[in-house]
Amino acid sequence: MLSTKLHTAINDQINAELWSAYLYLSMSMDAEAKGYKGVANWFYVQWLEEQDHAHILMNYLNSRDAKVTLKPIEKVDTEWHSVLEMFQQTLKHEKVVTGLINNLAAIAAEDRDFASSNMLVWFVNEQVEEEESARDMIFAAESVEGDKYGMYQLDKELATRVYTQASPLASEAE
Ligand code: FEO
Repeated sequence: MLSTKLHTAINDQINAELWSAYLYLSMSMDAEAKGYKGVANWFYVQWLEEQDHAHILMNYLNSRDAKVTLKPIEKVDTEWHSVLEMFQQTLKHEKVVTGLINNLAAIAAEDRDFASSNMLVWFVNEQVEEEESARDMIFAAESVEGDKYGMYQLDKELATRVYTQASPLASEAE
């Protein structure tokens, strides 16, 4: 059985993942409105991935006979000055999420809840990737700052990003 502390923290994390999804959807819509279709695609994939993260945690609570209680999703920003600013906020936000995941892992360890620790390993690794990809995007956006043609090329490149379902959900479907 999950401890109340871990149950509450995972339930809160579901909300945080859905908030992240909403944030990236908002960035996608802002990019779309400004004509950056590739950037919009990149953030749209991000929105799908964040929903996967929430889904994995919901499945996990259900499998542990712990109720998922959905909470309101707080409002998100709707306007960014530049594509670079979007990626900077992405990195800042992902660092916060890494802290939340580490906190969950710490509670699971404290509880000696090995099943939860095991489930959380995927999220710990995912956060390393999330921060790295945000850093890569900041570097790319900085490289084309003030260069319209460069931005056009970058936007075309980001249009090729494809969503892949998170592996814990893919294995579940087998
Ligand atoms: Fe769900 Fe971007 O971490």
